[in-house]
Amino acid sequence: MNILITGNLGYVGGVLTRYLREKYPQALLVGVDSGFFVDQLTSVDAPPELLLDRQLSCDIRDISLEQLQGFDAVVHLAAVSNDPIGKSFEQATESINLTGTLALAAKAKSAHVGRFVLASSCSVYGAAAEELVDESGILNPLTAYARSKVDSEQQLAQLADDSFQVSCLRFGTACGYAPRTRLDLVVNDFVASSIANKEIYLLSSGNAWRPFIHVEDMARAIDWALHRDGVAIEVVNIGSAAMTLRVNALAELTATIISDAKVTYAQDASPDNRSYQVDFSRYQRLAPDYQPQWDMPATIQDLVENFQKIGFSNGNFRTSLLIRLNSLRQLIESGQLDEQLRWSSPTVLSE
Ligand SMILES: NC(=O)c1ccc[n+]([C@@H]2O[C@H](COP(=O)([O-])OP(=O)(O)OC[C@H]3O[C@@H](n4cnc5c(N)ncnc54)[C@H](O)[C@@H]3O)[C@@H](O)[C@H]2O)c1
Repeated sequence: MNILITGNLGYVGGVLTRYLREKYPQALLVGVDSGFFVDQLTSVDAPPELLLDRQLSCDIRDISLEQLQGFDAVVHLAAVSNDPIGKSFEQATESINLTGTLALAAKAKSAHVGRFVLASSCSVYGAAAEELVDESGILNPLTAYARSKVDSEQQLAQLADDSFQVSCLRFGTACGYAPRTRLDLVVNDFVASSIANKEIYLLSSGNAWRPFIHVEDMARAIDWALHRDGVAIEVVNIGSAAMTLRVNALAELTATIISDAKVTYAQDASPDNRSYQVDFSRYQRLAPDYQPQWDMPATIQDLVENFQKIGFSNGNFRTSLLIRLNSLRQLIESGQLDEQLRWSSPTVLSE
């Protein structure tokens, strides 16, 4: 199978590359990325892109039909990848996450690529009520980022047919160690804070439910989408009940595993109404052999062990470049990137 991975130099992309290379040694794997976070390695090992057959240094907004020829599948990870970045760069969020995604998919279809996998998000549901929300639940995107995923899903559905199979995977909040670990994700933040500051500080009571998924289990789900039978368009919540936790339970669990850390609540900590629980039964039914394997204690323990290997101890990590928004701001302030998240001069990733 010939697979193009967009956004391969990000948090999920490196883990996906390793997963696919191990499972399919003969597959042709090509990455395409504009390289915003290429330097933010959190590993002592060789970078995962060395496992690719080829790395393209390109903005997905500029990719040509010719560059897409010969692939069986496109896994589309490249995006402005969270709410705070989406808020700071609304126009770029729309032009990359929506317009760029749709143009990429249309070109892929014209180039006879058979499958398109979109990394979507459970944030399409917004703040749901306490009951479980399944794929037929009302979409209530509250941010530019979430809106870009809703609109992409809906417009990709119009391209899907027998020759172009589309899978929209609505992932919960990612977590876990990766060659380019982000620290702007709640589990990773709690572990980093426990190690570096010996404290997890909660601004709210932490009563809200959140669905989490380990990055390697995201790769497993993408593998399913690359091989699934069935209908032209599939939109599926990806995660598990076992990885759905209240934020305060997650904090307490982290502090139990990293035993010299403690959980502190802000004096005026109030309940968080943005609680949601997601129904993953459709994914269980469709993909029994690709179900998430990681539970939360193992995820936390693995982060701790890998942070130890790289000697992580930065108590000010929230101002560091391991926070995606800080990285982008620094590239803009230094004149390398513009507000549309385009490079001022050509990037120098190896081709
Ligand atoms: N991390 C999560 O919690 C989570 C949850 C649900 C869905 N997702 C989705 O999964 C995907 C991957 O997320 P991630 O955590 O790896 O994000 P990330 O920010 O770590 O990586 C995104 C990558 O895309 C690249 N990129 C961005 N714009 C580009 C462009 N115009 N052209 C080429 N490359 C571009 C960046 O350089 C980066 O390497 C995203 O689509 C995200 O929305 C992530």
